[in-house]
Amino acid sequence: MLRRRFIHLFGSGILFAALGVNSRRGTTASRDTFQHGVASGDPLADAVIIWTRISGAQGEIIRVDWQVASDSGMQTVLRSGQAKTDADRDYTVKIDVDDLPPGAQLYYRFIVDGVASRIGTTRTLPRGDVPAARFAVVSCSNYPTGYFHAYREIADRRDLDAVIHLGDYLYEYGLGEYATEYAEQLDRIPNPRHELISLEDYRLRHAQYKTDPDLQAMHAAHPVIAVWDDHEIANDCWRKGAQNHNDDEGRWGKRRDAAIKAYFEWMPIRGESRGKHTKIFREFRFGKLLSLTMLDTRLYGRDRQPQMNENMQSNDVHRMLSDPGRRLLGKKQEQWLRDTLSRASETTWQVVAQQVLVSPVRAPDLEPLIDPEGPTMLSREFLDHSIAMSKSHPPLLLDTWDGYAAARQDLLTDLKELAANPVVLSGDLHTSIAGNLHLPGQTEPVAVEFMTASVTSPGFAEYLPERRPGGLSDATRKLNPNLKYMETDRRGWLCMTITPAECSGEWHLLDGVRSRQNSSTIDRRLSVAAGRIAEGLYDS
Ligand SMILES: [Fe+2]
Repeated sequence: MLRRRFIHLFGSGILFAALGVNSRRGTTASRDTFQHGVASGDPLADAVIIWTRISGAQGEIIRVDWQVASDSGMQTVLRSGQAKTDADRDYTVKIDVDDLPPGAQLYYRFIVDGVASRIGTTRTLPRGDVPAARFAVVSCSNYPTGYFHAYREIADRRDLDAVIHLGDYLYEYGLGEYATEYAEQLDRIPNPRHELISLEDYRLRHAQYKTDPDLQAMHAAHPVIAVWDDHEIANDCWRKGAQNHNDDEGRWGKRRDAAIKAYFEWMPIRGESRGKHTKIFREFRFGKLLSLTMLDTRLYGRDRQPQMNENMQSNDVHRMLSDPGRRLLGKKQEQWLRDTLSRASETTWQVVAQQVLVSPVRAPDLEPLIDPEGPTMLSREFLDHSIAMSKSHPPLLLDTWDGYAAARQDLLTDLKELAANPVVLSGDLHTSIAGNLHLPGQTEPVAVEFMTASVTSPGFAEYLPERRPGGLSDATRKLNPNLKYMETDRRGWLCMTITPAECSGEWHLLDGVRSRQNSSTIDRRLSVAAGRIAEGLYDS
């Protein structure tokens, strides 16, 4: 979200020999055929999705051999087969490889006409007692805004079970629109140059992102568990439309279905695109250690966001927020989550990963914090209006759970009643946040929240020009003591380490994304103890 107008925000070695493939990595021929790399995702204890895309095809049906092996030299092939792809799926290849051993590091590749892809690494989920799990959590990777250093850092890690991608994997905007100011300087001009509307548009943008070497490295190194946020479709989308969709751009349903089809073609996600009926909410079990639920807070059941603009008045906001009927997940997804949490009682942790901030955040008085003449991505008119509105401390943002207060209370009630150790993961805000989640009027937390920074997308400071760096987050935390950590200015990723005793989040923040050189630091580490959620987050 965060947008221009604020809130506008993969037998045997014998088969290998019979195929006669070139096993060297990085041959010229391989790069030509597999320009978009390889990926894996949605690991289960006995299965994983493997993905690639064939370049250079011109209308014909392509036969693609695939192999999954237990060794990086592809000598011990566990499973293999042949798939076909064609223009109807943009020459992408997606295999749901089953009958695999649990808790295993595996290697995979694809072969076309004797030419092999690079070899990807993936993992199946463990069963039974699991001493520890570790994930990278990411969101908001805007190609024209900067380099994907966060993805490279994640690719270089050898201690991760999976990458959880909370969405905004790509952005729909054209050159000259949101966060493209440095695109030409960085040689990261969006393709196509215009805003994504058609199926061909969305396919081209996915293809461009998957040419990025850092993104390719991350996919080749780890399985990804992904959900979309809004920008894979259009900014601030909901079940019947989007802020960034106008009638002159055609029928919303046609655009949404094109975006979803391209997403299912190009992402290593299990299942099919079924238009507005597409369900991406799903669960992953890491043995007895944790249940990971992935939710869709965007398309499936979201009622329309309150529209923040220059004309909005405090009374309008309060009237909308007091409506108990407004839903973010929709009734069917809410019931699915309750059923899933109930079945997850045999796991120590219940991790609920979803797109938008759950913690309530009231806006501080912006007047003493903001330089009204400073550089901003907002219109001056809207900046002035936001400063005036902040006097009554409204919710900072309304596209988050703050715009759906009754639905949030129901979510937190479900977490309290059905989950022993609930942990919420979120993204979307281009900000690092940690908070204790309380039911209204209660002092003890019922859950905790960890929010990842953006991979590249701009932070609050580029909307709200601060008189003093850090002033906005300091004032926001002071007004909202439920927040234990807030860092608005640096991009990065979140490393989650979960053991039977403790769940910890470590924010890896970058010094910048517009230099090819990367440096980063661990900015903060916060934890919560199993069986002691009510004591909340602590430094560790
Ligand atoms: Fe984003």
